[in-house]
Amino acid sequence: MKTALIFGITGQDGSFLAEFLLGKGYDVHGVIRRASTFNTDRIDAVYRDPHENRAALRLHYGDMSDGTGLRRVIAQVSPDEIYNLAAQSHVRVSFDQAEYTADVVGTGTLRALEAVRDHMKAGGKPVRFYQAGSSEMFGAAAPPQNEATPFYPRSPYAVSKVAAHWYAVNYREAYGLFVSNGILFNHESERRGETFVTRKITRALGRIKLGMQDKLYLGNLEAKRDWGYAGDYVEAMWMMLQAPRPGDYVISTGESHSVREFLDLAGEYSGLDWTRHVETDPRYFRPSEVDHLRGDSSKALSELGWRPKMDFPKLVRLMVEQDLDLAQQERTLAEAGHRVVLRGSAHR
Ligand code: NAP
Ligand code: GDD
Repeated sequence: MKTALIFGITGQDGSFLAEFLLGKGYDVHGVIRRASTFNTDRIDAVYRDPHENRAALRLHYGDMSDGTGLRRVIAQVSPDEIYNLAAQSHVRVSFDQAEYTADVVGTGTLRALEAVRDHMKAGGKPVRFYQAGSSEMFGAAAPPQNEATPFYPRSPYAVSKVAAHWYAVNYREAYGLFVSNGILFNHESERRGETFVTRKITRALGRIKLGMQDKLYLGNLEAKRDWGYAGDYVEAMWMMLQAPRPGDYVISTGESHSVREFLDLAGEYSGLDWTRHVETDPRYFRPSEVDHLRGDSSKALSELGWRPKMDFPKLVRLMVEQDLDLAQQERTLAEAGHRVVLRGSAHR
């Protein structure tokens, strides 16, 4: 039985990956941040109290800004595979918190790689390392983007991901570590953070449909993204670590759509004319935007046998239906006298 360690297990991808690896019989360990409130919502469904069971999922406190802690967890868990998904992953926020983003995303990756290098040098078993790279690294480079496309990052987040990418390549070349970079294009789901545009839209449309909200404030509707389903993409991460050799792989659907097109489809599935509800708020524009991302995953198909399973209309429908259900639950609670806070409409 293999052991995996996931940094960023409480995020969208971390939760899908944990479920996927548990399904494959892995012992899964995850690193979570200490918070004053519970932050494990996305993994609660697969978490079992270790006092009651021999749990296959175990959690450890840690933070990418704390190298000593990362070393301790790696030594204690002795994983076969590490998935580094931890990040301040919001592009717009990275303009406000540039240094912090660089520390967690860029230097945090370096800390993890240094810990792995020392762990193996000290006689620890070989570790395979997955680094969560991003299509944001391509930034202003013209589509379609593949592994040979030069990076042209357009935000502190993207610059930090480029640094992490090259740290990973360097540790592969300098120390012979098995380190693979996934260059993943946008992937969404019913678990997507509510400040990313797709989920912000489907959350709002659900509430608008049920009369709990009227307006949705957005930024640039013309940006185009290559949107896939998170459940498909975590499988690609795992496949990269099962390959005979480490490498860098673009993971995408090969299709792009604008935010406006996402709204059109989500509006159609919700039975709403979104143009009556959406207003522009300049605060959601970015100081430098990424206009068009569309990936070419031929390498992942030919070397790993990976291809996406869910198409764009199915993805939008899944998110719309899920968020309509959630809005219904919220309305039931509100009607029963509970206070329901409608986050996301105006603040993010
Ligand atoms: P996400 O939902 O924002 O999750 C990020 C995870 O990182 C959370 O578990 C978060 O913990 C954790 N984290 C944040 N700061 C940390 C720190 N200082 N130390 C330790 N953990 C920290 O992101 P995602 O969508 O799952 O994406 C996973 C990874 O893939 C990220 O690295 C992201 O940049 C990258 N990526 C995502 C996409 C995409 O479209 N989703 C595409 C390309 C690349 P909390 O829950 O406590 O906040
Ligand atoms: N978040 C957000 N909120 N984006 C908006 C809004 C809004 O109100 N209005 C328009 N947009 C536009 C953004 O300007 C951007 O062009 C596009 O919608 C997508 O924004 P996000 O959903 O925030 O995602 P992202 O593409 O910036 O970044 C995501 O994908 C990257 C991979 O390409 C994140 O998951 C990153 O972590 C990931 O690396």
